[in-house]
Amino acid sequence: MNLTAQLAGLFPRLDQVPAEYRVDTRAYERLYLLNGEIRTWEGPTTEVSSPICLQGGGGLGRAVLGRVPSMDAGAAMAALEAACGAWDGGRGGWPTSSVATRIAAVEGFVARMIRVRETVVNLLMWEIGKSLEESRKEFDRTVEYIRRTIEALKESDRANSRFSLDGGVIAQVRRAPLGVCLSMGPFNYPLNETYTTLIPALIMGNPVVVKPPRFGLLLHQPLLEAFAASFPPGVVNFIYGDGATIISPIMKSGRVDVLAFIGSSRVADVLKLQHPRPHRMRCILGLDAKNPGLILPDADLDLAARECVTGALSYNGQRCTALKILFVHETVAGPFLDRMVAAIQALPVGMPWDAAVKITPLPEPDKAAVLTRYVEDAVARGARVVNPGGGTACETLYYPALLAGVAPTAQLYHREQFGPVVPVCTYRREEEFLEFVAASNYGQQVSLFGRDPARMALLIDPLANQVCRINLNCQCQRGPDTLPFTGRKDSAEATLSISDALRCFSIRSLVAAQASAESRALIQEIVTGRHSSFLHTDFIL
Ligand code: G3H
Repeated sequence: MNLTAQLAGLFPRLDQVPAEYRVDTRAYERLYLLNGEIRTWEGPTTEVSSPICLQGGGGLGRAVLGRVPSMDAGAAMAALEAACGAWDGGRGGWPTSSVATRIAAVEGFVARMIRVRETVVNLLMWEIGKSLEESRKEFDRTVEYIRRTIEALKESDRANSRFSLDGGVIAQVRRAPLGVCLSMGPFNYPLNETYTTLIPALIMGNPVVVKPPRFGLLLHQPLLEAFAASFPPGVVNFIYGDGATIISPIMKSGRVDVLAFIGSSRVADVLKLQHPRPHRMRCILGLDAKNPGLILPDADLDLAARECVTGALSYNGQRCTALKILFVHETVAGPFLDRMVAAIQALPVGMPWDAAVKITPLPEPDKAAVLTRYVEDAVARGARVVNPGGGTACETLYYPALLAGVAPTAQLYHREQFGPVVPVCTYRREEEFLEFVAASNYGQQVSLFGRDPARMALLIDPLANQVCRINLNCQCQRGPDTLPFTGRKDSAEATLSISDALRCFSIRSLVAAQASAESRALIQEIVTGRHSSFLHTDFIL
C-alpha cells in the first residue's frame, strides 16, 4: 500500500473513536461571557470543524464539532464597554481591590478550572489535533503556571510592603494595573498561551476582553462558568467572531490600554496601527520565529539528531519555538542526515489519542498544500527530500519532509513554515550561520550542537546580541516558565515568564511625602486604620 493510502487509513470511523475521547459540545456551543453573565448568542454562528477526518459513506470528511457565535461589532463593543465599566477610570472594584482579594479570586478560578480538565483536554485534541499527552501537558502546565503566578505575586507584594526613606522623602512603591486589556492567544497553544497572559493581566487588576484564536474556540466554553463564578462582572469577557469585524472597532475606539497578542507580526502591526494613540497601549507580543540549529563538526550526532527531530517536529512543528532550519557542517552532513531520517521514520503517525503518537492532523485547512508548495519551491532550487515518503499528504495528515541542500533563494530558507517540514543547509564556515542570523527578520532563539568550549564561546558572544536564548546541545523551547521568554526584531515585544508577566501587566506607582511629623502621622493612620488597599504594610503569607 502506498503512503497516501496508509495515511487515509489512519483516520477512524466515529464508532472507532474511544468513548472517553469523544466530545459533545451541545451544552455550551453558542455561549459567550459578557459582564459576568454567560449568555446564549442568538445571532449567526460559525461551524467549528476538526482537523480529524472521519471515514463516512462519502469518504473522508472533517468531523464537525459544533458552532460558536459569529458576533458583530455591536456585541464586541458591548464587551469592551463591560471591561471599561469594570475599570471605571481606575476606580472600579477590581482595580482598587487588594492583592489578597485578587489572589483569592484566581485561586477560586483554578479550583473550578481543574474540574473540567478532561473536557478541555479532549477539545484540545479535536480542535487542534494535539496529542493526548501534549494536550494534558498543556492543561497541567497552565494550572501550574497560574499557581506559580500566585506565589510570585505574593512574593513581590511582600517585598513592596515596606516604606523607603531617602532624601527626606518617605515612600511606598507598588505595582498598579494598566487598564483594559485585549487578550488574543494563538491556535497552537490556545489554552496555555491565552491564559499565561490573561491570568497575569487579571491578577494585577486589569479587566480583560478575550478573543480566542481561529482554532481552539470551543475549549474555552467549559471554562466560562469558572470565570463567571470567580471574577466580578465585567472583569472577564469572551467574544467570538471574525477579527476584522469584532477587533477593529475595539482597537479603533482607543480604549485598549494593553494588547496581549500571540500570533503573526503582520496582524500585530495591523492591530497597533488601528489604535488612534498607540503610545498609550502597552504591547505584550509573541510573534514569528525561524529558530535555526547549528551542527558543528564535533557535535554528538546522535544527540543532535534526536534533539533536532524533537525540536523541529513536536506538535508537527507548530510551535513558535520550533527549530525551523538546520545548518550542518559539510563534513558531517551525511551521517547527520542518516540519523535524522531514522529518527523521523520512528515517529508514530495517527490520531491524537493513539499511543505515543507524534505526527497528527493539522488544523489549518490549506496547510498541506502550503507546505507542498514550499517543498516544491526548495526542490526547484536544488534541494532534495531525503526521507522516504517525506511530504506525502492525505487530507489533514502531512508526513514530515526532511530537505537537504536548501538554497538561500528558497522560500524555506527565510519563511516560517510552521509545519512538519525540516529544511537543512550545509555550511563550511560558521560565519555563514552568523550572517544568516543577523540578516534574519526573526530573533527568538538558536540551538548550537558541538563540544569545543572555545568554538562554542565564539558563537555565543555575537549570538547573544541577535537572539534571546542560545540553547547548547538541546532544542529551542520556552520552558521552564521561570526563564525569560522573548525575542528581537519580528519575534516579540516585552518579556514573559511567571514573574516578568506580572511586571508586563502593571506599572510601578508610588505614594510619597515629605518625612514630616504630620506626614508620618497621616501615613501611620492610613496604614494602621487599614484605610487603603494600595498603601499598607499587610504581609500576604
Ligand atoms: O509556540 C510557542 C510556544 O511558546 C512554545 O512553547 O517551547 O514550550 O513548546 P514550548
